[in-house]
Amino acid sequence: MSYTLALANPKGGVGKTTTTINLGAAFAKKGRKVLLVDLDPQGQMTIGCGLKSLYDSDDFDLLSCILKAEIDKMQAQITRVENFWVMPAHISLLRLEDELVIQKAGESRIKKIIEILTEGYEVCLIDTAPTISILTDAVLVAARRIIVPVQAEDTSLQAVESLRREIAELRDVLNVDIKIVAIVPNMVSSNSVSERVLAQLADRHSETPVFDTTGSALTDLPIRRRIALAKAWYEGKSIFSSCPSCDAVDIYMKLADFLDQKMNSS
Ligand SMILES: Nc1ncnc2c1ncn2[C@@H]1O[C@H](COP(=O)(O)OP(=O)(O)OP(=O)(O)O)[C@@H](O)[C@H]1O
Ligand SMILES: [Mg+2]
Repeated sequence: MSYTLALANPKGGVGKTTTTINLGAAFAKKGRKVLLVDLDPQGQMTIGCGLKSLYDSDDFDLLSCILKAEIDKMQAQITRVENFWVMPAHISLLRLEDELVIQKAGESRIKKIIEILTEGYEVCLIDTAPTISILTDAVLVAARRIIVPVQAEDTSLQAVESLRREIAELRDVLNVDIKIVAIVPNMVSSNSVSERVLAQLADRHSETPVFDTTGSALTDLPIRRRIALAKAWYEGKSIFSSCPSCDAVDIYMKLADFLDQKMNSS
């Protein structure tokens, strides 16, 4: 079964990009044909995959390709990294949100582009910006299944609630079945704040239709704070190739199994 998942959380710095890259590497390790799409105009996933030169390139204008729906030119940018594929972001995307405000039906245009770009891949993961915006809404609508990396801190509860509200509104207004399939605790350390916040997250989200309740959305697979994960991003590699002995490798593999199971049973 093929599926697309968006990684979203309006709170910045919680691990959306780190999870996208390393979960993508885990699915690839499981033998899946994986595409990672960077739709955060800051391009940190692109840079974390060692493709900074594509992000900064003067020879390419992704914004113009999106606005003119030049899919072939976009597909030509898709690059193999390690054992997965990456659709890089480009610096021109920093102006995309302004254009989407002006353009008619911006959300549906982006949704259509995502659908075409992801054709032919078994697992597609889309990294998003730490905002609630037209672009993020378009990604949520296109993917319909969402992973929410969270930091186990009190401010996370507020951020997850904002995202839940946005998804509930998109479900109502557009009649699209968008669901949060996994909340992934990241940068977890062993302390009482982490435990209390995780317990509150688990409690809060059992009933609403926004959360997939075939099993809890809150995964029992916390990713601990590991310098090796920050170092891997800096090196432009996944943790699988930068530091295969890091314990996070095993957690990302289990997270890929968990998502496979969820997506196959829903
Ligand atoms: N488990 C971890 N252990 C140590 N460092 C981590 C971990 N997860 C992420 N980081 C580091 O924390 C910073 C923020 O992570 P990341 O860029 O993945 O978050 P983000 O949610 O994508 O941020 P933004 O909202 O700005 O896009 C990065 O420097 C990353 O290398
Ligand atoms: Mg990011």
